[in-house]
Amino acid sequence: MSSNPPDEPPTKIENSSALSAKAEKMDPVAEIIGKTTTHTLRIQVTKPGEVGRNDFLSITHQGEEYLLLCKELWREKGKTTGQCSVVGPMPRTPFNPEMLVYKASPRIVSAALGIDIPIEESVYAGQLSDHTVPVRLPVKQLGRLFIVGKTGSGKSYTTAVIMEEFLKKGIPIVVLDRHGEYSSLKIPAEEGNERFNVEPRSYEMSVIEFADLHANPGADLPIEALLGTHPKDLIVSGQGTIINFRGLDLGIQEALSQEILNDLYQAAVNREIPPFYCFVDEAHLLAPNRGKAATTGMMRLIAQEGRKFAANLVVITQKPQLLDTTVRSQVGTWIIHQLTDVRDVDITVTSTEGISKDWGEDIQRLDTGQAVIAGDAVQVPVILDVRARETTHGATGFNPLDFAEPQTLEELEKRRIRLRTDFAGRIKAAVERFQQLSADANGGQAPQHVHALRTELQAAEQKLHQLRDENNKLAVRIRKLQIELEKTEKKYQKAMNIAERALAELKGKKK
Ligand SMILES: Nc1ncnc2c1ncn2[C@@H]1O[C@H](COP(=O)(O)OP(=O)(O)OP(=O)(O)O)[C@@H](O)[C@H]1O
Ligand SMILES: [Mg+2]
Repeated sequence: MSSNPPDEPPTKIENSSALSAKAEKMDPVAEIIGKTTTHTLRIQVTKPGEVGRNDFLSITHQGEEYLLLCKELWREKGKTTGQCSVVGPMPRTPFNPEMLVYKASPRIVSAALGIDIPIEESVYAGQLSDHTVPVRLPVKQLGRLFIVGKTGSGKSYTTAVIMEEFLKKGIPIVVLDRHGEYSSLKIPAEEGNERFNVEPRSYEMSVIEFADLHANPGADLPIEALLGTHPKDLIVSGQGTIINFRGLDLGIQEALSQEILNDLYQAAVNREIPPFYCFVDEAHLLAPNRGKAATTGMMRLIAQEGRKFAANLVVITQKPQLLDTTVRSQVGTWIIHQLTDVRDVDITVTSTEGISKDWGEDIQRLDTGQAVIAGDAVQVPVILDVRARETTHGATGFNPLDFAEPQTLEELEKRRIRLRTDFAGRIKAAVERFQQLSADANGGQAPQHVHALRTELQAAEQKLHQLRDENNKLAVRIRKLQIELEKTEKKYQKAMNIAERALAELKGKKK
């Protein structure tokens, strides 16, 4: 039998400190077995089914409560054993053997993980997976944010959640939106969500969208007008500026991105604009790891130097391996959705601060809408269930006009007329510049057949994205139907059992 350190009372003590799990009326679920250290211990589960992989547990030692993460569990000879490590503050002396272990309370979890940040300074991202603990990420630590995940894993959804949070706080955002997805911020969700305490809300009065108006009739200003703006028009407290590239060919997308990123960076350096966040969707196209884009240099500069001037960057990609390594290496906080490509998983776990190799398995098993958060914003990596959106989730080419209520349509129209009047004087010159830029991007720099190929590639990309959206929707529908089918089968089975029992009873009586 193991002996206790001299400064500790005998084993199996339920601590009476005000902070103890007992004080919160929780039953123990396990007890310590074998050798302990100040940061790791082994547990024997006494309530099977109550302790799972990645669960948070708590233990009281010398009057202080400590948070444990159960990283591994195994069963042998009918007993469940687990390996735990301490998360957050560690004790000075090793834990006592045979101490009782409890389910961690939301209070200790959020305190030890450092996610109990005041609302004014944080972004409400969702809840810890399998818990009711809200995950609030410090805005200050999101200056270099990377959102990754395979197609359909929930990147755009999570990105929109972060955008909603910034808009709510009046933090200016500018979005380079390749697929025209984020104008959905103008339309409230159909319903709220009780678990996440989310009410439908629209940001139609906060969002200004520039786009090709033929392809995107719900946008506010023609894309050409963008070239008639000063960064001060784009970066305004409480405003979200969406630059919707849908329908434009790749050359002009790249040229416009280059202009905008350069102008924003210079304005930030000259302190002409307030702190802002720039969201770059499909970032691997503007800063590819192989080959070169005109924007690579600018993306690197903002990633490396932008923070000094409060020019913050959120990059989103489905393939971390395709993103420029300099941009990738500057990332402070990672939001990692499901990845299945082994190389992507490998790159992610090796370049993310605080993540060990064994997280690779968790990353491959995440559900849609779940993500691992690691890096500056959290003390230790955690698995998050991303909160429901306040606004509707829009697929490629989302047209707000198809979804808006009559009153919203009216408001949107009034606002659009006002914006177009404001910009009227600048649009003519901007159109000429736009045409020049277009000609340079497509004709001047690239031969005609390259231009044709680029256009074809872009059309194929748009189509692929559309098909992916449809595929995602079908997958969600299939899952719902499967659940319904399972429920119906269970009901049917229950009814059959009752009928069989009744029949047996009847037969018994007859005899
Ligand atoms: N947090 C979430 N809560 C509820 N549903 C979600 C969540 N995240 C994603 N979904 C669902 O999953 C679908 C795919 O999500 P999303 O469009 O964000 O994927 P993506 O990773 O951006 O894919 P792609 O790479 O193809 O753009 C959405 O249409 C939505 O229905
Ligand atoms: Mg997406």
